[in-house]
Amino acid sequence: MRVPMIAGNWKMNTTVSEAVELVNEMRQELDQIDNVDKIVCPPFISLATVRELIKGSSIKLGAQNIYFEEKGAYTGEISPPMLADLCEFVIIGHSERRQYFNETGEITNKKIRAALKVNLKPILCVGEKLEENEAGRTEEIVTEQLKSSLAGIGYRNGLIIAYEPIWAIGTGKAATGEQANETIGLIRYNIVELYSKRAAQDMRILYGGSVNDVNTAEFMKQPEIDGALVGGASLKANQFLSIVKQTSEIRQTR
Ligand code: PGA
Repeated sequence: MRVPMIAGNWKMNTTVSEAVELVNEMRQELDQIDNVDKIVCPPFISLATVRELIKGSSIKLGAQNIYFEEKGAYTGEISPPMLADLCEFVIIGHSERRQYFNETGEITNKKIRAALKVNLKPILCVGEKLEENEAGRTEEIVTEQLKSSLAGIGYRNGLIIAYEPIWAIGTGKAATGEQANETIGLIRYNIVELYSKRAAQDMRILYGGSVNDVNTAEFMKQPEIDGALVGGASLKANQFLSIVKQTSEIRQTR
């Protein structure tokens, strides 16, 4: 059985004191839910502080990006060993990085390798644009992104994939449960091809894109969907809590 996972991607939001406030608002209640992996991904500058706040709780920590070189003259970048010291997960290949920072499959691939080398668990994001979706190219795009991002990388337990259709991110226009389930099923099939049946059975594949406390149940009831990568709604303690609680309840009765 795959343990469901809800990861909050705070993106470029919250000062350090706002991050403290947000964690404090939800820490206790989140900690009590034990059949869901709960992850918060604050901005780099808040990682150390949040880490102290969640110490001893069941809440886990992730970063939103990573650089692939180990150290050196790369002004402004954050290396894998720096993150490995602080957190357990790292989001890689988010569509905002691909779109605004020109991240290609090749760069994503290097970042995944670098993360795995220091035992960070990558959350690899894939997803198609609106025009690609409308042209019926979802399968082609997602398959290409998976293949380029994972090329030459052996299967490692702990690798997580998030299917995030770009047209659903931050738009309030989520995919339907069936749409997300279908594409995630396709991703799982790709994992069988790339790795093995066993890897595909074990791998957690999340949905992301306008997940909130109203539509969570629709996704969590789907057999292929193992959780969510939540953006906007993860910045509101009550919404994030509700998403985790609903996931916990649905999975208990499944
Ligand atoms: P959203 O973002 O929930 O605000 O749509 C999701 C994401 O980009 O991870």
